[in-house]
Amino acid sequence: MADKINVLLSEQEVNDRIADLGAQISKDYEGKEIHLICILKGGVFFACELAKRITVPVSLDFMSVSSYGNSKESSGIVKIVKDLDEALEGKHVLIVEDIIDSGKTLNHLIPMLYARKPIDIKLCSLLSKPSRREVDVKIDYLGYEVPDVFVVGYGLDYAQKYRNLPFIGVVEE
Ligand code: IMP
Ligand code: MG
Repeated sequence: MADKINVLLSEQEVNDRIADLGAQISKDYEGKEIHLICILKGGVFFACELAKRITVPVSLDFMSVSSYGNSKESSGIVKIVKDLDEALEGKHVLIVEDIIDSGKTLNHLIPMLYARKPIDIKLCSLLSKPSRREVDVKIDYLGYEVPDVFVVGYGLDYAQKYRNLPFIGVVEE
């Protein structure tokens, strides 16, 4: 039987916010080029929509990471499942992520990427669950804060399902 999904953020709300973020990023990076790193798989819908709204030159790369360990919680030890194709040296890197939860993944990943000598690294996340944070992560561009509920849609999955929903929803228990 299909799960019931309740809308938390409508397609319109998400798209409007992405347009705002795209405009802000375009302004902040005026005269520069952005090397956008999409964190797979969750970040992919957001990264595509965001990239279309950025008016400065953008190059795109993709990375897939997973946490070691078998628990549902992020362990904080990040394993690179698929590495980037391009070097980061001399680039303005913008990481695009679906959601910052405990913060452990990005807290581990950002220093790892800084070792590759980019000019700078900024973080753009569609969602954040501040009440779940265990380690500090600076989110430079944020779509929406959400409460401590498990969200799906716009790239976010529940057991690999619902990534394709055009809105952010909550699976009814
Ligand atoms: P953390 O910030 O290291 O705890 O992990 C963040 C990752 O956990 C995200 O990139 C998502 O893949 C996943 N995640 C956290 N909360 C949710 C949620 O509510 N729905 C779907 N995935 C989530
Ligand atoms: Mg993710």
